[in-house]
Amino acid sequence: MSAQKFDVSDLALAEAGRKRIDWALSEMPVVHALIERFTRHKPLRDTRISACLHVTTETANLARVLIAGGADLVLCASNPLSTQDDVAAALVHHGISVFARRGETHDDYYRHLNAALDHRPQITLDDGADLVSELHKHRHHLLDGVLGGTEETTTGVLRLRAMARAGALRYPIIAVNDAMTKHLFDNRYGTGQSTLDGLIRATNFLMAGKTVTVAGYGWCGRGIAMRARGLGARVIVTEVDPVRALEALMDGFHVMPMAVAAPESHFIVTATGDKNVVDDPHFDVIKDGAVIANAGHFDVEINLPALRQRAVERTQPRPSVEEYRLKDGRHVRLLAEGRLVNLAAAEGHPSAVMDMSFANQALSVAHIRARHADLAKAVHDVPPEIDSEVARLKLQAMDVVIDTLTAEQGTYLSSWQEGT
Ligand code: ADE
Repeated sequence: MSAQKFDVSDLALAEAGRKRIDWALSEMPVVHALIERFTRHKPLRDTRISACLHVTTETANLARVLIAGGADLVLCASNPLSTQDDVAAALVHHGISVFARRGETHDDYYRHLNAALDHRPQITLDDGADLVSELHKHRHHLLDGVLGGTEETTTGVLRLRAMARAGALRYPIIAVNDAMTKHLFDNRYGTGQSTLDGLIRATNFLMAGKTVTVAGYGWCGRGIAMRARGLGARVIVTEVDPVRALEALMDGFHVMPMAVAAPESHFIVTATGDKNVVDDPHFDVIKDGAVIANAGHFDVEINLPALRQRAVERTQPRPSVEEYRLKDGRHVRLLAEGRLVNLAAAEGHPSAVMDMSFANQALSVAHIRARHADLAKAVHDVPPEIDSEVARLKLQAMDVVIDTLTAEQGTYLSSWQEGT
């Protein structure tokens, strides 16, 4: 074990953090079962792990699994504004090296990433691929000691696949995001609920009767659109992919370009993974008083430099809200500095979905430890047996029993002779 180093905001918050971490665990039965399993089998004995994740109560419970499995863990934040300072303090109290402060500067963010890399990880956990990117760009002498890593989010997987395509990826990565028991639940129901939670906590505005535009109809956009509709909003979807646009239309949403949606929208939420989705020309037509927020990984989806350039006045009417007055008197309200609104203005996804995401993480990390010699330096799917085990354990914890195929049905499904 290396000596404990850390950089967190306030160690006095540890007790409050501990209580919230336990509260979250009560909604994470699969992770709970894995803590017990990892305690018994120690699949990560003496493994140095560096994790770059949102420092939340749910992540703290993933940390418990990894430690129970025998890992020597260091944690840093995967976003400057998502750290829950009480959780960071509680983890330090628990003996884990944590480098994360809510509201940290860009320089501190990278200093913290490098502190996590000083641990000389054998396995990395990443959310957005900043850790892997920093390791490959500036700390490549450490690469030989890395057995493998995992990636939590869509944006990170896209970046890592680009690295693999360019021949730059120097160790195997398991794309946890792409597991069914991750993206179908976390990206859809998790982002759906936590994004609406962020919009409401930040503004306390009524959603019923409002027009909400959701940019992007991937799994996250679907969840946001579905939940906004559930609260009584009229929902517009903007898309660039014709198939997804058609799906949004047939799911009952209005579909149109952002330039047409912006003048009608009380809320605009981006969830595309791309940059300048709300762009400079949209500010010419945006509705007075519109609330704009981002639910994508990076703060690039809203053209913030353009907005700031246009503003004649900037005020902060509430926490997590900046109001920009434009030359013609219209106001635009930006939430959470354009960073992940669900984590910066609320508490991130509910524990019950992170339960499945982080069960995939823990089992994938154990898989890397056991099988790294068989894994090519590429981006890999979560092994399907892990995905179905997570679903099975979750159903079991929810007291839901399902049917099983009879022998006759099994044979029928794998045969071709029987037809009309
Ligand atoms: N990403 C989204 N929600 C999260 C949460 N609650 N914990 C960790 N990562 C997250």
